[in-house]
Amino acid sequence: MKVLILYESCTGNTAFATEALRRLLEKEGHECSRMRYREANPSELGGYDLYCFASPVMSFSPLAPVLDFLGKMPRLSGKPAFIFFTCAGWPGVAPRIMARKLRKRGLEVLGDFYLSCPDSWPISRRLPGIAKFWDNIFPTRRSLKKMRDFLAEMVSLAYRVNDGVKVKLPSYRLWPTITLPLGLFAAKGGLRRGLGTREIKLEDCNLCGRCAEVCPVNAVTLDHRPTFSSKCIGCWACFNNCPRKAILSSAARPEDYYSGLREKDSLFKKIGL
Ligand SMILES: Cc1cc2nc3c(=O)[nH]c(=O)nc-3n(C[C@H](O)[C@H](O)[C@H](O)COP(=O)(O)O)c2cc1C
Repeated sequence: MKVLILYESCTGNTAFATEALRRLLEKEGHECSRMRYREANPSELGGYDLYCFASPVMSFSPLAPVLDFLGKMPRLSGKPAFIFFTCAGWPGVAPRIMARKLRKRGLEVLGDFYLSCPDSWPISRRLPGIAKFWDNIFPTRRSLKKMRDFLAEMVSLAYRVNDGVKVKLPSYRLWPTITLPLGLFAAKGGLRRGLGTREIKLEDCNLCGRCAEVCPVNAVTLDHRPTFSSKCIGCWACFNNCPRKAILSSAARPEDYYSGLREKDSLFKKIGL
């Protein structure tokens, strides 16, 4: 089976998880391509037997540029797809928002999965003990095994859909819940205010360009200092990834940053990769 995984990742959790998915698929003899949405050419997405659309959860929504990409994508009528998130533990309406977008493009959404990973939101990382807790516990061996089982189920459903067998698909109705307004607000790129006022500690910034490189919407430009355009979606990738902690925010302390999962090799080993 030919599988395409599309993903975005601000601090590496979704990058790690989708790489694990790719390795699992290849181990089973499938052919798997994996790329970031921003590297993919929307007109060249045809020709796969199964699609994975992956994103981090940001305020109960998929990342806004992921939704923009899906809105512009050509129709992939009747093609099986699944949704994959990493989040700190509560995806809220994110799977429903994503599924509705995919169904509008004609895809058959087979299911969704979220892997709990450490929280990359510096505001919650301020709570005493929380950062250590998430960083040391997640993902667990159990959650990684569940991810592997979910993938096997998606592949088996995709075979049936491609063979023209009718399968029962989840509904993904957008019911009113407490996470709905927050999710819809974030989906429209409304998180920028949460970043507070940013300031660059000029004596620490060496213009390495990491902030511009990790920004999923190219909102950072480097001249004699990083500047942030109005395209910013408030994902904290620049703050979290700055190797010198030179980006300051009025809403967080420099020590609240999170730059991604550590010891990835041992995590791959936990699922036999
Ligand atoms: C602004 C912001 C909002 C977030 N909102 C949620 C949320 O609503 N629910 C949740 O479980 N995790 C939330 N998180 C945590 C991220 O989803 C989680 O850390 C994710 O694994 C990050 O993926 P990445 O490393 O691929 O960017 C949020 C993180 C940020 C920065």
